[in-house]
Amino acid sequence: MADAANTACLATGAGGGARPAAGVAGTPFFSCEDVHAYYGESYIVQGVSFDVYEGEVIALLGRNGAGKTSTLRTIARADAPQLRRGAIRLAGHQLDKMNAYQASACGVQLVPEDRRIIAGLTVEENLRLSQIAPPIGWSIEKVYERFPRLAERRNQEAITMSGGEQQMLAVARALCRDIKLLLLDEPYEGLAPVIVQEIERIVGEIKALGLTTIMVEQNAIAALNLADRAIIMDMGEIVFTGTAADVLADKKLREEYLAV
Ligand SMILES: Nc1ncnc2c1ncn2[C@@H]1O[C@H](COP(=O)(O)OP(=O)(O)O)[C@@H](O)[C@H]1O
Ligand SMILES: [Mg+2]
Repeated sequence: MADAANTACLATGAGGGARPAAGVAGTPFFSCEDVHAYYGESYIVQGVSFDVYEGEVIALLGRNGAGKTSTLRTIARADAPQLRRGAIRLAGHQLDKMNAYQASACGVQLVPEDRRIIAGLTVEENLRLSQIAPPIGWSIEKVYERFPRLAERRNQEAITMSGGEQQMLAVARALCRDIKLLLLDEPYEGLAPVIVQEIERIVGEIKALGLTTIMVEQNAIAALNLADRAIIMDMGEIVFTGTAADVLADKKLREEYLAV
């Protein structure tokens, strides 16, 4: 498991000061280039290319079934869908050559739609579990400072918390790893509007910290309010790339792909 790709990531990931100077003179911090991915013989991600600059928040939008989750999973190097062609690069590392474990060690953290909170463990145990292997990001103390709600509930069994609190924990758990690229899959899904506002505040804070983020969301307006740029997918392909303001101003585009 500890091959060259993985070792290289651990070496640059833990130090903090060793981060490459990305975003300089137009160099993308992250890029997908002609990415094609399959579930078995089902061809799903069909030649996706895009760049992300350091510190950007990208809203990845599109209808249900467009291929957004599959794209995030491909970037995180999940076993499925299987990447068959294309390059995925993050801060000089070739993610396309890695497995999920190696990509995580390189700083890619996916917060999946179902949140994957571990049953039978308390809030604190869930957080500690994410820190069993380096590179480690935020300390538990820092998480509690930024998420007082989690501090109050540190000894509660995590799956007994509300949906919003579980989403907070899922994001906090990702921050406990040393992140270079945060992938959020529908963080607002199933949450009441007032809770969406609270998660929005957290994503806003993450943005203020300068963390590069790709956020998939059905709630397009909420995502666009936070995002710097938007990418719209349809049927496994990118059909639009532009600023969040461009999307908000384009009624036809919104009606066609976002139903808002
Ligand atoms: N595990 C899987 N096996 C086969 N097909 C899948 C699997 N997961 C998703 N798909 C298919 O891939 C397409 C894109 O799905 P997905 O990436 O989940 O879309 P989105 O997140 O945009 O709603 C859909 O047609 C879906 O049915
Ligand atoms: Mg999805």
